[in-house]
Amino acid sequence: MREFSSVTPESSQKWDVIHPEAGRWQFADSDRVVDFAVSHQLAIRGHTLVWGRASVPDYIEQAADAKQLRDYMADHISTLVSRYQGKIERWDVVNEPLAIRGGDYADYIFNRLLGTDYIEQAFYLAHQADPAAKLYINEWYDENDEEKFQAYYHLVQQLLDKGVPLHGVGIQAHYNFHDPAPEKLQRQIQQFAALGVEVELTELDIAKFPWLDNRLQDQGIEYYQAAKACTAVAACSGITVWGFTDRYNWIKDWLNLPGFTPLLMDQTLQPKPAYYGVQQALLERQPTANPF
Ligand code: XIL
Repeated sequence: MREFSSVTPESSQKWDVIHPEAGRWQFADSDRVVDFAVSHQLAIRGHTLVWGRASVPDYIEQAADAKQLRDYMADHISTLVSRYQGKIERWDVVNEPLAIRGGDYADYIFNRLLGTDYIEQAFYLAHQADPAAKLYINEWYDENDEEKFQAYYHLVQQLLDKGVPLHGVGIQAHYNFHDPAPEKLQRQIQQFAALGVEVELTELDIAKFPWLDNRLQDQGIEYYQAAKACTAVAACSGITVWGFTDRYNWIKDWLNLPGFTPLLMDQTLQPKPAYYGVQQALLERQPTANPF
């Protein structure tokens, strides 16, 4: 593929889509994405095994007790990870474990029945199913929310101190309601890297109202700065944008914000300043640094 070296299925691998009922799987859409990627020599980021905030099917929300939920989680993770063994090299094992803002854990069925240990249990299950896969924790946060950054950082540190098979940290980098703070982002990426893990920007998009004065040029600069915060750190090994054309983007659909143009290419797939911003950051990357 000319522009990209990796794909992430937007929704086809989410629990409620791929495994809506105990014993019932819907692999078709996910298989299509994986087969496409394999046939185009693209890397795949599996997304996502356990996400308590959305895409939780009823049979999970209604799990009777901890044992039943643990058995459901084991079945889900081992079936999904082993199905794509050798094809999917990175998995978002646990997505958004923390509350939207501040330092608390999010209130999910997983915490309520299994405690926060569900996080490490999910990593051990994924590692058992594919010992070669790189396992990521993935989170959204506003760089300016130092309390949440510290909570995410300490969660990763604790898991590593326990010897949990965690290999990478995902920073979603959705800039829908706040602007990027590239200096803080780069410092935070460096802090995670110092723990010995890979870091990736996993869902980058920068929402802008295009008609407000020159915002597309600003957006180009902001995409350059966000990408540069990653390319400047050797352990930052990937930048995934959450879609590439404004024609299809979750912000106008899920967040019901029509008119936002958050991505690299316009409705007609013409590159925007955003595209050249990311390209510039990649071109400026030190050859010895990160293996994009
Ligand atoms: C979003 C998808 O883009 C939408 O199409 C879907 O309706 C909801 O989920 N964080 C994540 C992603 O980890 O999986 C979410 O994707 C966006 C926020």
